Order: sequence, then C-alpha cells, then structure tokens
Amino acid sequence: MCGIVGYLGKNEKKEILLDGLQELEYRGYDSAGIAVIENKQLKNFKAVGRLKNLRDKTKEYESKGFGVSIGHTRWATHGKPTELNAHPHMGAYSFVVHNGIIENYQELKKELQADGVKFLSQTDTETIVHLFEKNHNLNNNPWESFKKTISKLEGAYATLLITEADEETIYFAKNGSPMLIGFNDSDVYFASSDTPIIGKATEVYYLEDGEYGYAQNGKIHLFDKNGEKTFSKQALATDKAMAQKDGYRFFMEKEIYEQSTVMNDTMMGRLLDDRIEFEELDKDLFDNIVNIKICACGTSYHSALAASYLFERIAKTPCQVEIASEFRYKEPLLRDDTLFVTISQSGETADTLEALKMAKKAGLKSLSICNVDNSSIVRESDAAVLTRAGIEKGVASTKAFATQTMVLWMLAIYVAQAKETIDNELLSQELDAMRHTPKALLVADELHPKMTRLSKRYLHGHGFFFIGRDLFFPLALEGALKLKEISYLHAEGYPSGEMKHGPIALADAELFTVALMPKSLHYEKIKSNVEELCARDATVLAISPEPFDLADDFVKTTYDSHPMLEFFEMMVVTQLLALEISVRLGNDVDMPRNLAKSVTVE
Ligand code: M6R
Repeated sequence: MCGIVGYLGKNEKKEILLDGLQELEYRGYDSAGIAVIENKQLKNFKAVGRLKNLRDKTKEYESKGFGVSIGHTRWATHGKPTELNAHPHMGAYSFVVHNGIIENYQELKKELQADGVKFLSQTDTETIVHLFEKNHNLNNNPWESFKKTISKLEGAYATLLITEADEETIYFAKNGSPMLIGFNDSDVYFASSDTPIIGKATEVYYLEDGEYGYAQNGKIHLFDKNGEKTFSKQALATDKAMAQKDGYRFFMEKEIYEQSTVMNDTMMGRLLDDRIEFEELDKDLFDNIVNIKICACGTSYHSALAASYLFERIAKTPCQVEIASEFRYKEPLLRDDTLFVTISQSGETADTLEALKMAKKAGLKSLSICNVDNSSIVRESDAAVLTRAGIEKGVASTKAFATQTMVLWMLAIYVAQAKETIDNELLSQELDAMRHTPKALLVADELHPKMTRLSKRYLHGHGFFFIGRDLFFPLALEGALKLKEISYLHAEGYPSGEMKHGPIALADAELFTVALMPKSLHYEKIKSNVEELCARDATVLAISPEPFDLADDFVKTTYDSHPMLEFFEMMVVTQLLALEISVRLGNDVDMPRNLAKSVTVE
C-alpha cells in the first residue's frame, strides 16, 4: 500500500514529486524518498516519518531543466521503516521505486550476493536495481537489461527505474499493483493512483498487468508479452477527493471492496505451497509455550475471539482472550509459559499498549499483530506480524479486521505445524481454503444492490441481535459493532444458543435478528435456534448458503464447505448492511459521531 510518483519533463521536479507524494500519504507514510537525474547528475533524498521530514530535507534543493525523477512513500512490509529501507533504492548508478512484493526476492538476492553485490536494505525492492545493473554490466543496453530484469520477477509489482546509463528515460512495469501514466503535452507523469497527477496531467492511461516499457522524449513505448502495442488515453478526472476514494462514496465502502486485494498482500510470502511461513518470527518463538493469551479492544478483540477457536481446534493450544481495558485492572495471574499476543489496527490503543507492558513486566514473551509498523505496540513487542491492510481511513474497521483474522488463522496453522498437531490432509485443506479467501471477499455484482434494497426495512424497531455459533459468534459481535458504530442503532452480538437463556424475551416483530447460518459449522444447531426466534415472531434476516424458508429476508451466500470461507463471505454481507443502513439514515459513514480512529486515552 505504498505510493509511487514519477515525472519526465522540464518543470521543477522536486515539487511535482513532493506534491504527488503528499496526495498519496493517506496510503502509508513511514518513510519517503525521491531521486532525480538532470544535467547528467543524480540526486537522491530520503527521510523517515511523515513527508514533512522529506520536505525539510530538500528545502535547499531545486531541480530545473529537463530531467527524469521518481518518488515513493512507504508503508513498511519488508524491513523496518528506516532511511536505508526507504525507496528509491540505489545501485551503483540507478534508482528504483516499487509497490507490491517480489516473492522470489530471497532467491534473487542470494544469486546477486554470490556475485559480490552488497545490499544496503532489508527490502525485496533492492533486488530489482541490482539485477538491472548486473544485466547492464553484461550487455551495456539499458532497455534489454530492464526487460530481462522484469522477466525474472515473481509476485506483485509496480515499478519505476531511472539510470545514469540512460539519463533521459524512465523505465516502468506493472503486474498486480496499480500504476498509471499521465500526459500533458510532452510531460509524462507516473503514479500509483489518480490523485498525484490531477491538475497536472490532462489525459491518463491505466496500465494493465503484464505491461512494461519506457518513457522517452515525451513518448511512451508500451509492451506486453506479445511485443510493442498501441494504447488509448482517456481524460483524467478533476476531483481529487473523489479520486482518493477511487470512485467510492466513502472510505469505508472503498475499504470493504479492497479486502479481496489486500488479503493477497497479507498472505504473500507467508502462504506457501505446502506450509505457512512467517519470516519475521524467530523459529523458537513458540518453544516452551503451552498457552496463548490475546488482549485487544473493539474489532481487534473480535478477531482475537475468532482466533481462540482456531488455536484450540487446529493448534491444540489453550487460548484465552481478554478485553484490554478489563485485563489491566483484574490483577491477572500470568505464567511465563504463556505467549502474550496483542492485536491492534493502529498499534496505539492505550489499553492494549498498557496490557502489553504489564505482560512484559511479568516476563511473558510478546507478539503483536498490527497494521502499522513502528507503532508503539509493535515497538514494545518482542515480535510482530504486520497485517498489510494498508492505511484504513474509515473509523469503522473493515479490512483491518479481515486481515487480522487471516494472520491469526495463518498463525494457528503455523503453531500447529510447529507442534505437529495437524496432519498433511488437514493442512492442505486449510491452505487451499486460504487461497480461496480473496475470492470469498469479492463483493458479488448483485450483493451490494440487494443490501441497499434490504436496508430500508431495518431503520426502526427496538434493536438488532446478530447471532451465530462458534467462529460465527465473534463475527456476530463484529457485525453488531459495525452497525452500532455507523447507524447509531442498538445492536448486540450473541451466541445463538444463548438466546433462550434470556434475550429471547425481547422477541417480537420489531426485534431484528441477523442470523449467521453457515453450512459447514453446526448448521442444524443454529437453524433450530433461529426457528425458536421465528416462532416468537422476531423479524429474521438470514445469511446462509442453505435456503431458509422461515426467514423474512434472506441473503444467499455461495461458500458452504469451509467455515473460514463462509466467515469471510458473511463478514462482507454484514459490513454492507451496516453501511447501507447508515447511508439511509444520513449519518457520516467515515467519521461517526463520538468516535476516533485511534483511541490513545484510557
Ligand atoms: O487500533 P485498534 O485495533 O487497537 O483499535 C481498537 C478499537 O478501538 C477499534 O477496533 C474500534 O472498535 C473500531 N472503531 C471498530 O470499528
């Protein structure tokens, strides 16, 4: 979720790059950098932290006259947010910026190191520039070298490369990560989304996967696997705010739709053919660990609850989950054979951070699952796994929850592998289901209009119950929290088997029940719980792959053979339901009243 900008032309390049990066900062901002070649001179600046730091560093620098330039704002995935890890990455005479993940970078890096290449950073990106220069030192042809480099890369990338060996050209390639080219007379712009070039370029071409080429003399030479190709430009949008939302009405909506893509980032390099791997974790992290305790708040707490089922079921490891604000004052008994796990989107939640400090003081090993590298919780933990969801702007968390849950699912398998509690057959079923997750997260064409239509029936009443069993109980809690946060309607998540122990007294036609009825987990049990509610005239919205005639409203899901795929598919349905109810009620979807994105107070 980093941002890229490039410019070829005669205008002041530093300002174009910095203004462009400013527009992309909302995607990630742990470090930034630029590289410029003009008058055969290469200049490069990098700074850790917000873009302002790079602005301060480049205050004295001006870049007038014709030249080529590239810039990048980073959201760390490989390696800490340091200047050395910030882009552009440098070879002996070339610079590269890159978004995405080069999956085979370790293999490429080993080959380059064997040839004597010294790496300065911990990133996958640096391999691109060294590979380019290795090829160039052999053939003295920059274009052929770039082509050869690209042909060796596996994974997702959008990349720009400039080199003193050909100082009037920008080389580019795209596969799996977004990149576009903007045009205005003989000026050429590159960016990872529209916003940096709105107001500068007038026309745009959105690169397709597998396309690459070079910009020279104000012209683009575009190629794909079939050779050089022609392309048509289109008019560029003029509304920046709209462009940041990629055409969606709200950031929350955009983030719901993004879940399928970011899930690929979350799994990349971790979900391998035959196992789960976390290269960021020491192999001995789980040695002598007999118990897992997870502490978190809000949505992160819900992902923790879901994980507790997976750790016990798959990894056969006892797992307790605690709300961080409760944990802090309960005088908990902590044992050093417990791994203390914190989950936080922001990494700054005060209650979670304080709980972590308590656990550390008691001598427990700690692991954080977080979306923001270098955040307080990540820095405080012994080990961290980043969720790679990209910056989440909507206060109501969506993609952070999805990616946290995926990391925890992968972690449960990882522990199961280490403790040998999973056989090969189950392992391959789980890995296979993970591979299908991005598909389960896609918003089907007919789903969103259906939720818009349904939402008008659920704007009144005396409250909502979201009900589910097992893994679907935490999902019910999360569905209710989403609705509460942005609709301001009362909603509760409940284990469906528990309704008869009290809450069923509330049942009447004005009680709305959202029933999560997966086919692959306790279907008959939950069905009979929902039937009990129907018999008492509650209004039921059932979500299930299995038709359920008693429901007042029914959303049919498609996955029916793996609980986690059902989980993710149903999660999207509940998110869209909350979104559309909030829209109908005229609320501020992205910034609901009384809430903040990051809760840094007790
Ligand atoms: O940043 P964190 O994950 O630690 O935040 C925890 C909660 O404050 C957060 O999940 C909150 O509940 C969200 N608004 C949920 O949508």
